[in-house]
Amino acid sequence: MDQHLTVVDHPMVQHKLTYLRDETTPTNHFRQLLRETSQLLAYEVTRNLEMTTKSIRTPMVGMESPVVAGKKMALVSILRAGNGLLDGVLDLIPSARVGFVGLYRDEETLKPVKYYFKVPSHLDQRLVIAVDPMLATGNSSAAAIDMLKEAGATNIRFLCLLASPEGVARMKEAHPDVPIVTASLDERLNEKGYILPGLGDAGDRMFGTK
Ligand code: URA
Repeated sequence: MDQHLTVVDHPMVQHKLTYLRDETTPTNHFRQLLRETSQLLAYEVTRNLEMTTKSIRTPMVGMESPVVAGKKMALVSILRAGNGLLDGVLDLIPSARVGFVGLYRDEETLKPVKYYFKVPSHLDQRLVIAVDPMLATGNSSAAAIDMLKEAGATNIRFLCLLASPEGVARMKEAHPDVPIVTASLDERLNEKGYILPGLGDAGDRMFGTK
């Protein structure tokens, strides 16, 4: 992808995003909307894939027909809220391999610490799509991308539902080679690192933990 940041302004994405933001949207509806929206974002994040052709026969004639080149993609969820995007992305890319990265912030050093890391093999040969609904400070996203690169990934894209200007800047500084696809570039972060206007705590809203 050429651009570092792509904001998907498609009317259906923007419509669904309004209901995801709305605090009166119940958990079951939030999950369904998240699945639908992440499928639409997956459509955008998989633009400009390397293609090849395959020889097939239609009932009429033989032809060389386009297919995605290379190894199966790796979809990596940044826990826990990234899991809310998995089903929708897998609806579009059912053959993707799936990995998980778990990080927490050490309260003393304030640095992200890895508590779980399980990713598909041969990461160096796959397009890796890292997913996390909220690109807020960008610290955990940048750290997760560091870990994916350490594991061999060289071709990474980042899919999120909402991004803050601070998070985009942090990612651009740390990983200028990782394009970001989002449904909205919101206004700013509040003093607690939440995105404004945002949608609140994405994990709590999708898992009903509040
Ligand atoms: N994580 C969330 O779930 N929401 C925010 O607004 C920021 C980070």
